[in-house]
Amino acid sequence: MREGNKQKFDGYAAKYDEWFMKNEHLFTSELRLFRKALGDITDKKILSVGCGSGLFESYIDCSNVEGIEPSEDMGKVAEKRGVNVIKYGLIEEVDLPENNYDIIYFNGSSSYIEELAPVYVKCLKALKEGGKLILLDVPKESAFGFMYLLGKSLNTYDHEYLRDAMPELPYPLALAASGIWHTTEEKIHVLKDLGIEKFTFCQTLLKNPIYTNEEPEEVVEGYKSGGYVAIIAEK
Ligand SMILES: C[S@@+](CC[C@H](N)C(=O)[O-])C[C@H]1O[C@@H](n2cnc3c(N)ncnc32)[C@H](O)[C@@H]1O
Repeated sequence: MREGNKQKFDGYAAKYDEWFMKNEHLFTSELRLFRKALGDITDKKILSVGCGSGLFESYIDCSNVEGIEPSEDMGKVAEKRGVNVIKYGLIEEVDLPENNYDIIYFNGSSSYIEELAPVYVKCLKALKEGGKLILLDVPKESAFGFMYLLGKSLNTYDHEYLRDAMPELPYPLALAASGIWHTTEEKIHVLKDLGIEKFTFCQTLLKNPIYTNEEPEEVVEGYKSGGYVAIIAEK
C-alpha cells in the first residue's frame, strides 16, 4: 500500500459506483461494450489494470480476473466483488510475469496515465502470444472528451458555455479534470510503434452526452463516433 500518497480515486469509490447506477442506461451501454470487447473469457487468465471498484467485473465471471489498483478505497470494493487484487499500486510500479495472461485490459484507466508506451510495453510482454490488450476509454476527440476538457478548463460545469447542453448527472468534475484524455489514434500509434499489427475496434455512446442516458445503446464497429471506444490489439 502507498502510505501518504493519495490516489486520484481515493474517496470516490462510493460516488463512482453511484454515478454509474444513476446513469444506468449509460452504464448498460458501456457494459455491453466491455463484454463484447472481452469476448469469451472461459478459462482465460485475465488482468484488469486499474480495476477500480470492480463494478464492471461484478457483471462477469471474474474468478480468473486479477486486478491492479492504486486506490485502496476502490480496490477493497473490487476484492469484495471477487476480483483478485494482486497489487495496490500504479501499473508503472508493478513487475508482471512474462507470457502469463490471455487478456489484459484497461477499462477507463489509460485516461489517467500520462506515459502510455512504457506501460503498454510491460503489458504486451506479460501477454501470451496471441493474447489481447484491450483498451476501453472515452476518446479525447469525442463529445464526452470535449465536455470534460471544457469543464476542466472552466473549473465547473455550471457555466453559460455549457448551459442546456449538459447531461443531468455529469461525471464528477474532479475525475474529469484529473483525466489525461488521449485520442484513440494516439493509442493506436503507440501500439503500432510497439509492433502491433492486428486491431479491431468497437464503440458505443454514439448519441450526444445529453441524450446518452435515455436508453441503452448498441455496440457498433469502429472508433470514430463513440463516446466509449474499445481498441482490441492482438499480440
Ligand atoms: C475511470 S476509473 C475505471 C475503474 C474501473 N476499471 C471501471 O471501469 O470501473 C480509472 C481507474 O484507474 C486507476 N488508475 C489510475 N492511474 C493508474 C495507474 N497508473 N495504474 C493503474 N491504475 C490506475 C484509478 O485508480 C481508477 O480506479
